[in-house]
Amino acid sequence: MSMSARRVVLISGASRGIGAAIAAELLANGWCVSLGCRAPEKMPAPDSEYQLNCQYDALDPASDERWIDRTLATFGRIDAVVHNAGIMLPRSILEASDDDFDHTFGVNVKAPMRLSRKLWPYLKASGSGRVVMLVSLSGKRVRSAQSTLYSMSKFAALALAHGLRRLGDEHGIRCTAICPSYVATDMGTALTTLAAEKMTQPEDIALLVRTVLMLPNRASIAEIPVNWTVEDSF
Ligand SMILES: NC(=O)c1ccc[n+]([C@@H]2O[C@H](COP(=O)([O-])OP(=O)(O)OC[C@H]3O[C@@H](n4cnc5c(N)ncnc54)[C@H](OP(=O)(O)O)[C@@H]3O)[C@@H](O)[C@H]2O)c1
Repeated sequence: MSMSARRVVLISGASRGIGAAIAAELLANGWCVSLGCRAPEKMPAPDSEYQLNCQYDALDPASDERWIDRTLATFGRIDAVVHNAGIMLPRSILEASDDDFDHTFGVNVKAPMRLSRKLWPYLKASGSGRVVMLVSLSGKRVRSAQSTLYSMSKFAALALAHGLRRLGDEHGIRCTAICPSYVATDMGTALTTLAAEKMTQPEDIALLVRTVLMLPNRASIAEIPVNWTVEDSF
């Protein structure tokens, strides 16, 4: 497939875990992938002309423009963004400091809101723009005191996804929140003694993301809860 026929997606936090799996899945299936990573110099150089590694730090607003500009200069368009970068500080609300709050909300909520705003003209121009938010089942229920700070940020991220979905309606922009339980990544395995092989795998999430990105405008999907097991509602 030629460069001009390929749709272009930005993926934040693509250095490892779910973001890296999404990047591999999309690159292998006809997308140009622009990876936003805090330290791209530590990543293997891309071995495809359809992959670009850019410096992006969710806590540095100036890195948004640099990432967007490099992507446009290289691929000429932007059709989708996957807001994947995220942090989880296991703190109850008695333990969480104001700095913990600012850090968590800065990465998990403020950064995807700001980046979406800056990408909006390009997503509109696409005619079938897509926004995927890596939220969490912690954005739908609070499972433990220790997960409260993270849950608060993911509830907000879910609200952001729904707000973008409303805003994008008339422009053909579709926004989907992916809401997993434990996924076998550095984050997931640090949170539980559950064996990694029992968890949802990053590749499973990547397949869902590809499906959401490929579906036509007439198939709008607001949320996808994904669980490694069966809970009452999820
Ligand atoms: N794993 C789970 O069980 C699970 C479940 C539900 C939802 N999620 C969500 O899925 C997303 C990906 O999680 P994961 O499991 O792949 O996590 P992970 O293995 O901990 O990877 C996190 C990614 O986010 C990046 N990141 C962290 N802070 C950043 C910042 N300030 N600016 C830019 N990038 C930053 C990391 O970059 P560095 O390599 O530079 O640190 C890394 O690429 C997150 O939003 C997470 O909340 C995960």
